[in-house]
Amino acid sequence: MLNFIAKPTTRICMNTGVERSEFWESAFNEKGEMWGLEPAKSAIVTKDFFLDKSLKNILIPGIGYGRNAKVFYDAGMKVTGIEISQTAIEMAKKHYGDTLTIYHSSVTDMPYDTTLYDGIFCYALIHLLDEEERRKLINDCYNQLSANGYMVFTAVSKKASTFGQGKFISKDRYEIFDGVNMFFYDRESITAEFGKTGLFEIMEITENYPFYLIKCSKSTAHK
Ligand SMILES: C[S@@+](CC[C@H](N)C(=O)[O-])C[C@H]1O[C@@H](n2cnc3c(N)ncnc32)[C@H](O)[C@@H]1O
Repeated sequence: MLNFIAKPTTRICMNTGVERSEFWESAFNEKGEMWGLEPAKSAIVTKDFFLDKSLKNILIPGIGYGRNAKVFYDAGMKVTGIEISQTAIEMAKKHYGDTLTIYHSSVTDMPYDTTLYDGIFCYALIHLLDEEERRKLINDCYNQLSANGYMVFTAVSKKASTFGQGKFISKDRYEIFDGVNMFFYDRESITAEFGKTGLFEIMEITENYPFYLIKCSKSTAHK
């Protein structure tokens, strides 16, 4: 099992938004704060990068129970999240109070406000989506970036030992366990998917599994 995903004991297929929401509800209900309260390495790297760029207003799609949000608001940034699980949102409120604004819904229906954010950080979510949903998420995030804003995504790499295991769905996409499909990235697919939205750096970073940290900018400076 991939331990950046919670596997609930009941089988729920994530083919629709409702099933996806039930999957995450079930996972957070059964396992609580399943990744602990420490931020992921990628969140710390991204916080330092956002600080260096003096970014102040941050959006975190798939914010979970907020463990990755804390480093940003501790550094003086305002954080807004989007999260499909009400249970995760309640856990975030318990730990972090009203310091976070969180929209309870799916990223597939973005945008939820007309704010232009100067930073977007999306951790370990995009690889759970299908091709059309990934395309829409990337474009929706890019459209919600202010001029000179930056967006950073993390996504699982084809170097993960689990790549190629489970039921084949489509190229580089597998059902890794009951009902959870995952798209495994390499530099080529990152360039194909993010190439038109200001992609300027691809870093490799090891979390529980090998991930890519994908940086895009709305400024022309990197083009
Ligand atoms: C792999 S977890 C990462 C959570 C969080 N970023 C962290 O590391 O603490 C993916 C998160 O995205 C949420 N999620 C999954 N699909 C979503 C969707 N379509 N819209 C919004 N949130 C979603 C899940 O509930 C979960 O909190």
